[in-house]
Amino acid sequence: MNLSSAIILLSVLSILHISKADNDTDSFFTTVSEATLSEDGKLDFPQLATKYGLSVEQYDVTTEDGYILTIFHVAKDLNATNTPILLFHGIIDSCYTFMLRGNTSWVYTLAEAGYGVWVGNNRGNLYGRKHVTLNPDKDEEFWEYSFHDIGYYDLPATIDFIREKTNSDSILTVGHSQGTTAHFVLTSTRPEYNDRIKLFVALAPIAYLNNLEPPVSIAAAAGPAIAVLLKTLNINELLENHSAASDLVTLLCSKGVVSYLACGFGTLFPLAGFDPAGLEEEFLTGVVFGHYPSATSRKSLVHYDQIVLRGEFAQYDYGSIQNMAKYGSVSPPVYNLTAVTTNVALFVGSNDGVSKLKDVERLGNTLPNLVHLEVMELERWNHVDFVWGKDIMSEYLYPPVLDLLKQYSN
Ligand SMILES: *[C@@H]1O[C@H](CO)[C@@H](O)[C@H](O)[C@H]1NC(C)=O
Ligand SMILES: *[C@@H]1O[C@H](CO)[C@@H](O)[C@H](O)[C@H]1NC(C)=O
Ligand SMILES: *[C@@H]1O[C@H](CO)[C@@H](O)[C@H](O)[C@H]1NC(C)=O
Ligand SMILES: *[C@@H]1O[C@H](CO)[C@@H](O)[C@H](O)[C@H]1NC(C)=O
Ligand SMILES: *[C@@H]1O[C@H](CO)[C@@H](O)[C@H](O)[C@H]1NC(C)=O
Repeated sequence: MNLSSAIILLSVLSILHISKADNDTDSFFTTVSEATLSEDGKLDFPQLATKYGLSVEQYDVTTEDGYILTIFHVAKDLNATNTPILLFHGIIDSCYTFMLRGNTSWVYTLAEAGYGVWVGNNRGNLYGRKHVTLNPDKDEEFWEYSFHDIGYYDLPATIDFIREKTNSDSILTVGHSQGTTAHFVLTSTRPEYNDRIKLFVALAPIAYLNNLEPPVSIAAAAGPAIAVLLKTLNINELLENHSAASDLVTLLCSKGVVSYLACGFGTLFPLAGFDPAGLEEEFLTGVVFGHYPSATSRKSLVHYDQIVLRGEFAQYDYGSIQNMAKYGSVSPPVYNLTAVTTNVALFVGSNDGVSKLKDVERLGNTLPNLVHLEVMELERWNHVDFVWGKDIMSEYLYPPVLDLLKQYSN
């Protein structure tokens, strides 16, 4: 094991430890964590959109299985009948991710280009901690979900809400990381949704995870042990909004150059790919770590780990007896990607530690309606440059995406 893997494992363990800390520790971190964030690191989503001159409205969407998700509609003119486009974030993340770069962000750029921008949130994050009957703080059942449920319930509920509000048969979508996994789950398990998406732009797509390298592969190999530990400690929710653990991350990660070394060089870059030029200190420690991480469930991480270890993009493995009861087979069924008939554009960075080019090529070869596969020209392009990259999104990413969106609008 080498240094960065060791740092990752240690951070995971210390975060687990702190999650179980008592009230005193909790309030201690809450008080100290205010510290060095910039204005954009402190504003909430509607305030950020407003600051950058956009109009914003907020809706609650209820899924078939009772989760209540807050989503946002952002535009230059909310009443204009422009083509709706949904942005769907990745794991441990939220709608903020598409707004953090201010006037070079996804939301701003698409709104300026005249689209009606809708920004989703998945269950469990700070805008998805509500349910018609379950209490996220008391009911473990609330946290019994993985990206499968996000794709099977959250994404279609959000898409149908937008279709209805805007009177559109079909919409455009952009997903990042786990947001792409959710799209592949949805369009392979509920084929009627293929026609409701005109074009799906997949940034740092994740379906297959067969080509991971250290330190990510080391973390994946340690996954089952970590999962057992989490289960033993009865930790189902990871990094909830302003929990002791997430406040500790904010505290440690928002303190200038030391934080940049620990959280950027020690944790983010080893996982996402090394790119300090695209993700400068001021932005990471002053803005990003004001809004990141947002919560996820233990089950989501375990499900990804199963995909790494199994080598197939398959449903959640409950063990053979439960699988038999749930799926009628000993092994969980593989997601049928040849059933994904919607138009898909894949964008991948060659310096991405998680979404590896070989895995994305395999995905592209399986999808029947792949319309575009772009390997980002800039060699240092990593996993989070697709949403956070300084200047480079405007230069390298938006032009081809805007071309594609235009081509598939109406
Ligand atoms: C240590 O990390 C580097 C950078 O991620 C990687 O290239 C190397 O293979 C790792 N070494 C071991 C022994 O895992
Ligand atoms: C800790 O928090 C719980 C629930 O908020 C409260 O009932 C309890 O009194 C607190 N304990 C201390 C020592 O403050
Ligand atoms: C964004 O805002 C900055 C600072 O106000 C300005 O210098 C820059 O030109 C703006 N960029 C765009 C794309 O509007
Ligand atoms: C997150 O927690 C903070 C502090 O407890 C609270 O002010 C904020 O409203 C919470 N956000 C959401 C969306 O629940
Ligand atoms: C996968 O989907 C395709 C297209 O709908 C279908 O022809 C094929 O039979 C499906 N495969 C399985 C294993 O269900």
